[in-house]
Amino acid sequence: MSDFPRFPAGFVFGAATASYQIEGAVAEDGRGPSIWDTYSHTPGRTANGDTGDVACDHYHRYPQDVALLRELGVDSYRFSIAWPRIVPDGSGPVNPKGLDFYDRLVDELLAAGIEPAATLYHWDLPQALETPSSGGSAAGRGWRVRETAERFAEYAAVAAERLGDRVPRWITLNEPWCSAFLGYSVGRHAPGAQEGRGALAAAHHLLVGHGLAVRALRAAGVREVGITLNLDRNLPASDSDADRAAVVRADTQHNLVWTEPLLAGRYPVSEEETWGELITGQDFRRDGDLELIGQPLDFLGINYYRPIVVADAPYREADPARRVATDNRYAEVRLEGVRHTAMNWPVVPESFTDLLVDLKERYGDALPPVHITENGSAEADEVSADGAVHDADRVAYLRDHLTALRAAMDAGVDVRGYYVWSLLDNFEWALGYDKRFGIVRVDYGTQRRTPKDSYRWYREMIAAQRG
Ligand code: FCB
Repeated sequence: MSDFPRFPAGFVFGAATASYQIEGAVAEDGRGPSIWDTYSHTPGRTANGDTGDVACDHYHRYPQDVALLRELGVDSYRFSIAWPRIVPDGSGPVNPKGLDFYDRLVDELLAAGIEPAATLYHWDLPQALETPSSGGSAAGRGWRVRETAERFAEYAAVAAERLGDRVPRWITLNEPWCSAFLGYSVGRHAPGAQEGRGALAAAHHLLVGHGLAVRALRAAGVREVGITLNLDRNLPASDSDADRAAVVRADTQHNLVWTEPLLAGRYPVSEEETWGELITGQDFRRDGDLELIGQPLDFLGINYYRPIVVADAPYREADPARRVATDNRYAEVRLEGVRHTAMNWPVVPESFTDLLVDLKERYGDALPPVHITENGSAEADEVSADGAVHDADRVAYLRDHLTALRAAMDAGVDVRGYYVWSLLDNFEWALGYDKRFGIVRVDYGTQRRTPKDSYRWYREMIAAQRG
């Protein structure tokens, strides 16, 4: 079919998932609890009280899921390793059965001709690192404290020693913005804290953890190391100075807080106007941190879903110490005249091109090759009388975003791969199972998998590249 976007030979097509969203088996084979177990089991935190206890039961059904990947024809599969399966208490003894699971998964992928790409941290922090368990050796307080970054690097070393011979591509962190700001400021993700300084400390310690993990992965000799960011395309709601200033704050908090230390060896120049005394009075940065954080990477992972239209907004909290919360410093305005997905996210493929082109303009040769490690859409899928899911909106989303990606490549951005989010419908964090991002439908009652039309479209698109 000629209307498929075309990509260069060697371009990697993949699909992505994350441990807590699909695995289930939360109390099996020695896995310890994570902050997401605690959070999802706290009344009122997730839609319908949904938890990842069973999820897609991928822990037991992974051979079937790998068969779906093989049939799809992807080059690579991005999964995440659950830290609490490997080091159940966050520090101390390693759990061999946890490592065995990923060992089996990796071998199954390789036997299917699929390259594994492993994310070390997709948000499931061992609970003991947030709040110490009695008798455990961890000190707790999560990413607010530097010790968590050190424990992360130890876990990274263990994982890479066991799997590094067969997993070529490693991602240290997934979307640290969500971990730091949704987790410690907005409180809509685990551990559900609402703090100002704590979120900024978390952001920094996540970056320190990344830097220490890069060292550990290099020492283990793995082939490619990167980090995945959810960079945002923030657009001003109007031309007013106030809205433009709000965009600077949004850019600082969503993008520059990560890209400046990672790619430019500095903290954002706009941090003071964004966070005021919360950042000028910080005591968590140390000499040498920028060198650690800014070590060269083999690739930058980018997750892209939508643009955000930003307007100036007054603080909603009386307490300025909590003003890091995104909804206190600027408001998101609904973009009219475009389709919105089931997440209520506007569909604007051109802004995907613009984001990548702007990033290249800003960082030039300091921008490593890019992998799009997530892109996709949640839609209000329906099962038709024929049992199929005719998800035309998702097909259009994927087609238009791949076309927009191709346009960024034509404009000079070095993009090496694209992973659709997600292989399976899964536990969409605080939104539970209501939001379906999969190109394969999961019936949570029976665990039956049904490939949607988007799965078939993606399969044909990949096949067309090779045909
Ligand atoms: C990203 C997450 C991923 C999934 C998608 C929809 O923020 O990395 O786990 O929830 O959004």
